[in-house]
Amino acid sequence: MTDKLWGGRFTEKAAHWVDAFGASIGFDQQMAKEDLEGSLAHVKMLGQTGIIPQADADKITAGLHHLQKELAAGKLHFTVENEDIHLNMEALLTAEIGPVAGKLHTARSRNDQVATDLHLWLKHRLPEIKEALTNLQTVLVGQARAYADTIMPGYTHMQHAQPITYGHYLLAYFEMFQRDWERFDFTQKHTDILPLGAAALAGTTFPIDRTQVAKELGFDQLYHNSLDAVSDRDFGLEFLSNSAILMQHLSRMAEELILWSTFEFNYIELGDDFSTGSSIMPQKKNPDFAELIRGKTGRVYGALMGLLTTMKAIPLAYNKDMQEDKEPIFDTYNTILGSLHIFTGMLSDLTVHEKRMAEATTHDFSNATELADYLATKGVPFRQAHAIVGELVLKGIKSGTALQDMPLSELQQAAPQIESDVYAELTAKAAVNRRTSLGGTAVSNVLKEVARDEKIIAAH
Ligand code: ARG
Repeated sequence: MTDKLWGGRFTEKAAHWVDAFGASIGFDQQMAKEDLEGSLAHVKMLGQTGIIPQADADKITAGLHHLQKELAAGKLHFTVENEDIHLNMEALLTAEIGPVAGKLHTARSRNDQVATDLHLWLKHRLPEIKEALTNLQTVLVGQARAYADTIMPGYTHMQHAQPITYGHYLLAYFEMFQRDWERFDFTQKHTDILPLGAAALAGTTFPIDRTQVAKELGFDQLYHNSLDAVSDRDFGLEFLSNSAILMQHLSRMAEELILWSTFEFNYIELGDDFSTGSSIMPQKKNPDFAELIRGKTGRVYGALMGLLTTMKAIPLAYNKDMQEDKEPIFDTYNTILGSLHIFTGMLSDLTVHEKRMAEATTHDFSNATELADYLATKGVPFRQAHAIVGELVLKGIKSGTALQDMPLSELQQAAPQIESDVYAELTAKAAVNRRTSLGGTAVSNVLKEVARDEKIIAAH
């Protein structure tokens, strides 16, 4: 027998470096609080069902409460020899109350224990993520209202396409973050399931009361198959998948903010707090934080790919491979929460160069569709109208004249249906405000969507 908690059938003690490789205490101590919470619920049930004497349950409960206090005070000392948070806690409890501590593991395995800890850990944190998303959405909606009529170029293929408003642009991201919010909300359902009671893999012979434990820990559901209970990491994968999609959204917007704060675009300026200088070039103001969020996206994608790959060929039920689930989940939680906070701050703190944005729509021929639509409403088949305007654009590019600056005679030469009322339709403002189709960029639409989005936020 060795001195490990499971050392009965062992005769040889492993070298420290071997223990270190197998140990998870370096990272799973982040679940220390949840481990104690789970143990407290378990021992309460063991006492109440008479599986262990109530007096023993009371001693264990008092010991666990003491450990909770020590943990909060940062006084608990974990060791690699004790492998993981579960065995470390048991060793600490034993040191505290003696061999009666050994009764805590009745009708329980580390397999259902670790699954319970991880469910609890994520269950406690999902609301934080949703709240951080709500804060970001609140800033987006507030700014969308403020910039509902701020004209800017809309792009496809990074080429000027048609004018839109900055408010409309911001609400596009509101929609994406709303879907993110809903995904995290849904993952709560798959996280809110109690594995404890599955024991090692097959359930237990002891007359446990899983419903009581679920109630005690605030779980909504119970796993109904013991093999699934200890083997399921879907909830973690969902969390990582949601996070990867969220980071994609943050990264795309970060990319735009980086681009738009360049000398060439100059549409926005990031606040000093969310920029950095250069150690050599005194003029520099670098969008480091936006870049870092874009960069961290790769790390979150990696976490998802990593855990998907880890899980892909694991036969039922528990296998040690699954110890690899925690680091990507913990790291991703920190990454997305930090990214959301920084992004929200960065957005609140940026200056919008409205004049510059509007100017960018005046000589870019982004009103060409307006002219084609104008001709179409005058009965010219759209294909023909498209060709006529295309030729006018080509002429305009050569002579450096925008469509709205061409004399009526020149326009009429291209298409006699054109009358002087055309000029009013060729402004970016007109182009924007005519797009009143549901979801279109018209200012009145944007304001309607702002009102709708405010209600969505209020219902979070
Ligand atoms: N540290 C382990 C993990 O994170 C706990 C479960 C260990 N179970 C076992 N049978 N070795 O997965």
